[in-house]
Amino acid sequence: MRVVVSIGGSVLAPDLDPERVAAHAEAIERVAADGAEVGVVVGGGGVAREYIEAARELSANEVQLDRLGIGTTRLNARLLIAALGERANLSPAEEYDEAAAALRRGEVAVMGGVMPGQTTDAVAAGFAEAVDADLLVYATSADGVYDADPNVHDDAEQFAEMTPEQLVDVVVPMSRDAGASAPVDLLAAKLIDRAGLRSIVVDGTEPSVLVDAILAGEHTGTDVVPEASEEPDAWEDR
Ligand code: UTP
Repeated sequence: MRVVVSIGGSVLAPDLDPERVAAHAEAIERVAADGAEVGVVVGGGGVAREYIEAARELSANEVQLDRLGIGTTRLNARLLIAALGERANLSPAEEYDEAAAALRRGEVAVMGGVMPGQTTDAVAAGFAEAVDADLLVYATSADGVYDADPNVHDDAEQFAEMTPEQLVDVVVPMSRDAGASAPVDLLAAKLIDRAGLRSIVVDGTEPSVLVDAILAGEHTGTDVVPEASEEPDAWEDR
Protein backbone atom coordinates (compact mmCIF):
# COMPACT_ATOMS: atom_id res chain seq x y z
CA MET A 1 0.00 0.00 0.00
CA ARG A 2 1.15 3.52 -0.80
CA VAL A 3 -0.11 6.16 1.61
CA VAL A 4 0.34 9.90 1.93
CA VAL A 5 -0.20 11.35 5.39
CA SER A 6 -0.77 15.03 6.03
CA ILE A 7 0.20 16.01 9.57
CA GLY A 8 -0.91 19.49 10.58
CA GLY A 9 1.67 21.68 12.26
CA SER A 10 -0.73 22.13 15.16
CA VAL A 11 -0.80 18.33 15.56
CA LEU A 12 2.94 17.68 15.24
CA ALA A 13 4.30 20.76 16.97
CA PRO A 14 1.76 22.88 18.85
CA ASP A 15 4.82 23.53 21.00
CA LEU A 16 8.34 22.20 20.67
CA ASP A 17 8.00 18.85 22.44
CA PRO A 18 10.53 16.29 21.18
CA GLU A 19 8.55 13.43 22.74
CA ARG A 20 5.47 14.30 20.72
CA VAL A 21 7.49 14.44 17.49
CA ALA A 22 9.11 11.10 18.38
CA ALA A 23 5.67 9.54 18.96
CA HIS A 24 4.49 10.66 15.51
CA ALA A 25 7.70 9.32 13.95
CA GLU A 26 7.16 6.00 15.71
CA ALA A 27 3.62 5.73 14.33
CA ILE A 28 4.95 6.38 10.81
CA GLU A 29 7.69 3.80 11.34
CA ARG A 30 5.11 1.21 12.39
CA VAL A 31 3.17 1.79 9.18
CA ALA A 32 6.36 1.57 7.09
CA ALA A 33 7.46 -1.58 8.96
CA ASP A 34 4.18 -3.19 7.87
CA GLY A 35 5.32 -2.80 4.27
CA ALA A 36 3.57 0.45 3.31
CA GLU A 37 5.27 3.13 1.27
CA VAL A 38 4.76 6.32 3.24
CA GLY A 39 4.85 9.97 2.19
CA VAL A 40 4.34 12.65 4.85
CA VAL A 41 3.38 16.30 4.34
CA VAL A 42 3.95 18.50 7.38
CA GLY A 43 2.07 21.75 8.10
CA GLY A 44 3.22 24.97 9.68
CA GLY A 45 0.70 25.33 12.54
CA GLY A 46 0.91 28.16 15.07
CA VAL A 47 4.48 29.06 14.18
CA ALA A 48 3.45 29.76 10.58
CA ARG A 49 0.56 31.91 11.78
CA GLU A 50 2.83 33.95 14.09
CA TYR A 51 5.33 34.65 11.30
CA ILE A 52 2.55 35.50 8.88
CA GLU A 53 0.86 37.89 11.33
CA ALA A 54 4.15 39.65 12.11
CA ALA A 55 5.05 40.02 8.44
CA ARG A 56 1.51 41.19 7.58
CA GLU A 57 1.98 44.06 10.04
CA LEU A 58 5.19 44.82 8.18
CA SER A 59 3.08 45.11 4.99
CA ALA A 60 4.44 41.97 3.32
CA ASN A 61 2.31 40.90 0.35
CA GLU A 62 0.44 37.57 0.20
CA VAL A 63 3.17 35.78 -1.72
CA GLN A 64 5.76 36.88 0.81
CA LEU A 65 3.47 35.67 3.61
CA ASP A 66 3.00 32.33 1.89
CA ARG A 67 6.76 31.95 1.49
CA LEU A 68 7.17 32.48 5.23
CA GLY A 69 4.48 29.85 5.78
CA ILE A 70 6.27 27.42 3.45
CA GLY A 71 9.49 28.04 5.37
CA THR A 72 7.83 27.01 8.64
CA THR A 73 6.28 23.88 7.11
CA ARG A 74 9.79 22.84 6.00
CA LEU A 75 11.16 23.65 9.45
CA ASN A 76 8.56 21.33 11.01
CA ALA A 77 9.30 18.74 8.31
CA ARG A 78 12.96 18.83 9.33
CA LEU A 79 11.93 18.15 12.91
CA LEU A 80 10.07 15.00 11.81
CA ILE A 81 13.02 13.99 9.61
CA ALA A 82 15.29 14.32 12.64
CA ALA A 83 13.02 11.93 14.55
CA LEU A 84 12.79 9.44 11.65
CA GLY A 85 16.57 9.32 11.20
CA GLU A 86 17.88 7.28 8.30
CA ARG A 87 14.42 6.04 7.29
CA ALA A 88 13.54 9.46 5.89
CA ASN A 89 14.84 11.59 3.04
CA LEU A 90 17.74 13.84 4.07
CA SER A 91 15.85 17.10 3.71
CA PRO A 92 12.21 17.99 2.94
CA ALA A 93 11.35 17.40 -0.72
CA GLU A 94 10.49 20.69 -2.42
CA GLU A 95 8.44 19.21 -5.24
CA TYR A 96 6.44 16.08 -5.97
CA ASP A 97 9.02 14.40 -8.21
CA GLU A 98 11.64 14.75 -5.52
CA ALA A 99 9.27 13.20 -2.97
CA ALA A 100 8.31 10.44 -5.41
CA ALA A 101 11.99 9.65 -5.96
CA ALA A 102 12.50 9.30 -2.20
CA LEU A 103 9.58 6.82 -2.11
CA ARG A 104 11.21 4.81 -4.90
CA ARG A 105 14.40 4.65 -2.86
CA GLY A 106 12.38 3.11 -0.06
CA GLU A 107 12.55 6.16 2.19
CA VAL A 108 9.74 7.77 4.12
CA ALA A 109 9.30 10.83 1.88
CA VAL A 110 8.79 13.94 3.99
CA MET A 111 7.89 17.33 2.56
CA GLY A 112 6.33 20.65 3.56
CA GLY A 113 4.81 23.33 1.37
CA VAL A 114 5.46 23.66 -2.34
CA MET A 115 4.30 27.00 -3.72
CA PRO A 116 2.38 30.14 -2.70
CA GLY A 117 -1.40 30.27 -2.93
CA GLN A 118 -2.31 27.03 -1.17
CA THR A 119 -1.81 25.10 2.07
CA THR A 120 -0.28 21.73 2.86
CA ASP A 121 -3.78 20.18 2.59
CA ALA A 122 -3.49 20.68 -1.16
CA VAL A 123 0.15 19.56 -1.18
CA ALA A 124 -0.85 16.24 0.39
CA ALA A 125 -3.59 15.72 -2.21
CA GLY A 126 -1.20 16.71 -5.03
CA PHE A 127 1.48 14.35 -3.74
CA ALA A 128 -1.05 11.51 -3.40
CA GLU A 129 -2.26 12.16 -6.94
CA ALA A 130 1.31 12.34 -8.30
CA VAL A 131 2.28 8.95 -6.87
CA ASP A 132 -1.11 7.20 -7.36
CA ALA A 133 -1.45 6.68 -3.63
CA ASP A 134 -3.94 4.08 -2.42
CA LEU A 135 -4.81 6.23 0.56
CA LEU A 136 -4.56 9.85 1.70
CA VAL A 137 -4.85 10.56 5.40
CA TYR A 138 -5.36 13.97 7.01
CA ALA A 139 -4.20 13.92 10.62
CA THR A 140 -5.75 17.17 11.76
CA SER A 141 -6.97 18.73 14.98
CA ALA A 142 -10.58 18.17 13.85
CA ASP A 143 -12.10 14.71 14.32
CA GLY A 144 -13.46 14.38 10.82
CA VAL A 145 -15.65 16.29 8.38
CA TYR A 146 -18.86 17.92 9.64
CA ASP A 147 -21.82 19.21 7.66
CA ALA A 148 -21.12 22.68 9.13
CA ASP A 149 -18.29 24.21 11.15
CA PRO A 150 -18.68 22.53 14.60
CA ASN A 151 -16.92 25.50 16.23
CA VAL A 152 -19.79 27.71 15.09
CA HIS A 153 -22.79 25.34 14.94
CA ASP A 154 -23.54 23.18 18.01
CA ASP A 155 -25.77 20.90 15.97
CA ALA A 156 -23.16 20.16 13.28
CA GLU A 157 -23.02 16.46 12.47
CA GLN A 158 -19.99 14.42 11.54
CA PHE A 159 -19.92 12.34 8.36
CA ALA A 160 -18.76 8.77 8.96
CA GLU A 161 -18.48 8.37 5.18
CA MET A 162 -18.93 10.70 2.25
CA THR A 163 -18.06 11.00 -1.43
CA PRO A 164 -15.40 13.41 -2.74
CA GLU A 165 -18.21 15.39 -4.39
CA GLN A 166 -19.92 15.82 -1.03
CA LEU A 167 -16.59 16.92 0.48
CA VAL A 168 -16.30 19.68 -2.13
CA ASP A 169 -19.91 20.74 -1.44
CA VAL A 170 -19.23 20.93 2.31
CA VAL A 171 -15.98 22.85 1.94
CA VAL A 172 -17.16 25.46 -0.62
CA PRO A 173 -19.35 27.49 1.79
CA MET A 174 -16.74 27.17 4.56
CA SER A 175 -14.05 28.57 2.30
CA ARG A 176 -16.28 31.57 1.49
CA ASP A 177 -16.98 32.31 5.14
CA ALA A 178 -13.94 34.12 6.59
CA GLY A 179 -14.55 32.88 10.16
CA ALA A 180 -15.11 29.21 9.38
CA SER A 181 -12.36 26.65 9.29
CA ALA A 182 -12.69 23.81 6.80
CA PRO A 183 -11.30 20.37 7.71
CA VAL A 184 -9.37 20.39 4.41
CA ASP A 185 -9.07 23.36 2.09
CA LEU A 186 -11.05 23.70 -1.12
CA LEU A 187 -8.17 22.98 -3.50
CA ALA A 188 -7.43 19.75 -1.61
CA ALA A 189 -11.09 18.73 -1.84
CA LYS A 190 -11.11 19.41 -5.57
CA LEU A 191 -7.94 17.37 -6.13
CA ILE A 192 -9.41 14.49 -4.10
CA ASP A 193 -12.52 14.66 -6.27
CA ARG A 194 -10.59 14.94 -9.54
CA ALA A 195 -8.24 12.07 -8.80
CA GLY A 196 -10.78 9.90 -6.98
CA LEU A 197 -8.50 9.62 -3.97
CA ARG A 198 -9.68 7.45 -1.13
CA SER A 199 -9.10 9.61 1.94
CA ILE A 200 -9.53 9.69 5.69
CA VAL A 201 -9.83 12.76 7.93
CA VAL A 202 -9.00 11.95 11.55
CA ASP A 203 -7.99 13.68 14.74
CA GLY A 204 -4.25 13.01 14.67
CA THR A 205 -3.47 14.30 18.14
CA GLU A 206 -2.91 10.73 19.36
CA PRO A 207 -0.38 9.26 16.87
CA SER A 208 -1.43 5.61 17.32
CA VAL A 209 -4.78 6.56 15.74
CA LEU A 210 -2.90 6.87 12.46
CA VAL A 211 -1.59 3.32 12.64
CA ASP A 212 -5.07 1.77 13.02
CA ALA A 213 -6.55 4.06 10.38
CA ILE A 214 -3.89 3.24 7.79
CA LEU A 215 -3.25 -0.43 8.47
CA ALA A 216 -6.79 -1.56 9.26
CA GLY A 217 -9.08 1.26 8.08
CA GLU A 218 -10.31 1.61 11.67
CA HIS A 219 -10.91 5.10 13.04
CA THR A 220 -13.65 7.43 14.30
CA GLY A 221 -13.11 10.17 11.71
CA THR A 222 -14.50 10.49 8.20
CA ASP A 223 -13.92 8.18 5.22
CA VAL A 224 -14.01 9.89 1.84
CA VAL A 225 -14.85 7.12 -0.58
CA PRO A 226 -14.91 7.72 -4.34
CA GLU A 227 -17.44 5.71 -6.32
CA ALA A 228 -16.06 2.40 -7.56
CA SER A 229 -13.02 2.64 -5.32
CA GLU A 230 -11.77 -0.45 -3.59
CA GLU A 231 -10.45 -0.81 -0.08
CA PRO A 232 -6.66 -0.95 0.12
CA ASP A 233 -5.63 -4.63 -0.10
CA ALA A 234 -3.93 -4.46 3.27
CA TRP A 235 -7.33 -3.99 4.98
CA GLU A 236 -8.82 -7.17 3.56
CA ASP A 237 -6.39 -9.43 5.38
CA ARG A 238 -7.39 -8.07 8.79
P1 UTP B 1 -0.37 25.04 6.51
O1 UTP B 1 -0.71 24.00 5.55
O2 UTP B 1 0.16 24.64 7.84
O3 UTP B 1 -1.58 26.08 6.66
O4 UTP B 1 0.68 26.03 5.83
P2 UTP B 1 -2.88 26.05 7.55
O5 UTP B 1 -3.92 25.28 6.83
O6 UTP B 1 -3.14 27.48 7.85
O7 UTP B 1 -2.43 25.31 8.86
P3 UTP B 1 -3.32 24.43 9.87
O8 UTP B 1 -3.93 23.31 9.04
O9 UTP B 1 -4.35 25.38 10.40
O10 UTP B 1 -2.31 23.93 10.88
C1 UTP B 1 1.06 27.23 6.50
C2 UTP B 1 1.07 28.36 5.52
O11 UTP B 1 2.11 28.15 4.55
C3 UTP B 1 1.74 28.64 3.29
C4 UTP B 1 0.34 29.24 3.45
O12 UTP B 1 0.49 30.61 3.73
C5 UTP B 1 -0.18 28.50 4.67
O13 UTP B 1 -1.17 29.24 5.34
N1 UTP B 1 1.82 27.55 2.27
C6 UTP B 1 1.86 26.23 2.64
C7 UTP B 1 1.89 27.89 0.93
O14 UTP B 1 1.84 29.06 0.56
N2 UTP B 1 2.03 26.89 0.00
C8 UTP B 1 2.09 25.58 0.35
O15 UTP B 1 2.24 24.72 -0.57
C9 UTP B 1 1.99 25.25 1.69
